[in-house]
Amino acid sequence: MTRAPRSTVPVDEASYDRLRLSQWLAGRARGDGMSRRGVLTLLAAGTAALALPAPVRAAAATSPGIVKPLPDEWFTLRGTNAETKWEALRGTGYLTPADRFFVRNHTSTPVVDTTTWRLRVWGSGLRGGTGLDDAVEFGLDDLRALPPVEHTAFVECAGNGRSFYTSQQGQSVSGTAWTLGAVGVARWRGARLSDVLRRAGITRHAVDVMPRGLDDEYVTGGVGLGRVRRPLPVAKALDDVILAYEMNGEPLPYDHGRPVRVLVPSWAGISSVKWVGDIEVSAEPLYSPWNTDFYRLFGPGFPEAGSAPLTRQTLKSAFELEAGAAFPAGVRSVLHGRSWSGAGGVRRVEVSTDGGATWRRAGLRDVPRRDGWVRWSVPWRPRTPGPAVLLARATDTAGRTQPDEAVFNTQGYFFDAVVRHPVVVAGRDVAGGDRPGRSMYDADH
Ligand code: MTE
Repeated sequence: MTRAPRSTVPVDEASYDRLRLSQWLAGRARGDGMSRRGVLTLLAAGTAALALPAPVRAAAATSPGIVKPLPDEWFTLRGTNAETKWEALRGTGYLTPADRFFVRNHTSTPVVDTTTWRLRVWGSGLRGGTGLDDAVEFGLDDLRALPPVEHTAFVECAGNGRSFYTSQQGQSVSGTAWTLGAVGVARWRGARLSDVLRRAGITRHAVDVMPRGLDDEYVTGGVGLGRVRRPLPVAKALDDVILAYEMNGEPLPYDHGRPVRVLVPSWAGISSVKWVGDIEVSAEPLYSPWNTDFYRLFGPGFPEAGSAPLTRQTLKSAFELEAGAAFPAGVRSVLHGRSWSGAGGVRRVEVSTDGGATWRRAGLRDVPRRDGWVRWSVPWRPRTPGPAVLLARATDTAGRTQPDEAVFNTQGYFFDAVVRHPVVVAGRDVAGGDRPGRSMYDADH
């Protein structure tokens, strides 16, 4: 077995990002796709058209680009994407079942033939410096022959919660109007990316690693940006990244990357490239629209060129309830939810049932776990019929607590503020009627 090459880039993410940002601004990093100015112009033009709240397709609609069934009770369709309804996670256990897992597709799910699929690894960061034509190739069996690893981790879109910039903070942002359902936790099994890179002959000169998907080229506003691809610093690529071929003990479903996806634990979902077809290993810095113009923070609080590319996910909480769920007055119910963080496990969750006036600790069902979430619950006996607002606020093992307000950025990424969840307290008879909020009349016995 070859030994791990020594990296020539800073190993911590913050230094890496600062370095790349300054290199890019100085014109010393290579980008591809369109120019930054071009994409910024496009984004500016698109902001008005895409301003929230974006229309949600009729519940009965089907999304032509997604293979799996998308029943109304589990999903809200948003363009080429499907958002998981939080009430559909009630009672599902720690792992999100693959059939309820959200789908974020820039275009549509390609159905890739597993038997002929090859992963091509190439670039100036490999011994001898190979081009795409003489890439080192791996088939699915080659990956399966490598020592397998399993990791339970969330995949979450950086834009998860984006709609609350508008509905809670009155701000206009561009992008898909997710509520909180662009996240799921699965048990991923696959080969270590580091094992593949070493077998391909990565050298100590490699600095960036860029996986690219086999789905169609992404075209936005009439401009083709090429196929989905986003560079990773070599330090992260050699750390905990997996080339996953299984999800929750089954071969990856088509919509989640079959036959193989990259899984980058704790980072924004865009890093976890699905249907990976090739990986460029480069001795010079790489850029794509997905780490220059998308997936950075732009706005009044950020440098003109934007923040460093987004890496670790932020901190969030959600109730396993639909908005407007009804509770019977005078009856003890149990509220359930989950909290997660990209900076470590969640160690404390507080819940308010009176719009934030008072808070109590929720009982945690799971130990704080890096890259996963904790399930929690808290009993509630509402007294007065009428509207009420539920809030949940998490604190992670890194000491971060969800704030009251998220920092505005034009593309609405990384919403981390406490979300106001509206419910209705009804007369006692609601429990015996058609039970609109049945899932939360959970036994407290
Ligand atoms: N990979 C490819 N090839 N094409 C895509 O559109 N979307 C990315 C990422 N990987 C995407 C991709 C984004 S933005 C997210 S949030 C996750 O996949 C979503 O993963 P999922 O659809 O399995 O939930």
